[in-house]
Amino acid sequence: MSIDVVVLPVAGLGSRFLPATKVVPKEMLPIVDVPLVQLAVEEAARAGIRDVVLVTSASKRAIEDHFDRSWELENMLATRGRQELLELVRGVLPAGMRVTAVRQPQALGLGHAVLCARPVVGNRAFAVMLPDDLIDSPAPGCLADMVALHARTGACSLAVEEVPREQTGRYGIVSLAGERITAVVEKPAPAQAPSTLAIVGRYVLPPDIFDVLEHAAPGAGGEIQLTDGIAALLGGHDFRPHRFAGVRYDCGSKLGHLQANMAWAFKDPALAAPLRAWLQQHLS
Ligand code: G1P
Repeated sequence: MSIDVVVLPVAGLGSRFLPATKVVPKEMLPIVDVPLVQLAVEEAARAGIRDVVLVTSASKRAIEDHFDRSWELENMLATRGRQELLELVRGVLPAGMRVTAVRQPQALGLGHAVLCARPVVGNRAFAVMLPDDLIDSPAPGCLADMVALHARTGACSLAVEEVPREQTGRYGIVSLAGERITAVVEKPAPAQAPSTLAIVGRYVLPPDIFDVLEHAAPGAGGEIQLTDGIAALLGGHDFRPHRFAGVRYDCGSKLGHLQANMAWAFKDPALAAPLRAWLQQHLS
């Protein structure tokens, strides 16, 4: 029953962060000094997950390299006696975790990206995390709570949060009956949105979704949508909303990325005081 595999779709172009993302994958952009994708893997580790499946594309090799050993760098740090940095570099992939990369040959949508992970995930219930959605939740974290819900009840779940009605066109939107999700629709216009409860990038899904995605027609934006795959399963599966505690930063947007950097900087005692002083000076 326990979830031991997470899929990280990281094949996207990152056009909102060009030119920074011309050669650097957007998931490698740092929050202070840790790449977004590493923060996602650390959250997965706290959820007890062992297998990470990266769904990548041609220009994303840096992500695989990030989670691989770097003998040259490690040797250099060891020779120079930089023990602390050596531990930092060795700890990029949490102990006991394994990374597999699969390619998404064409950018056909999030549903298609998840389908590309099928050969590795197989017949297991699994998690999906979108590294752009950085969730600052009390430990052990948003995904850990969703994995625990699955272990307790067998329920699948989607992380959700309220959004302003004028923003429904950016999200998958859910309808609820009590604590059950009864419908999901991808990027509805505000007037058509059945609610203002939006899906954010954490999912616990049954393996049956692969069969649905295999035969899915393109949906919103002409893409094969994960939301449409979930919609097709709602009749036969228990899907629950997970209203996580804490704050979610949309690191796919410049403002969200800056806010996340500030929030993480304030967690670091060496940065918090000088940053606060600098802000006070510049805001007055
Ligand atoms: C994706 C999903 C959408 C979800 C969103 C959360 O959209 O398709 O349902 O609400 O992530 O960030 P995207 O941001 O890739 O357009």
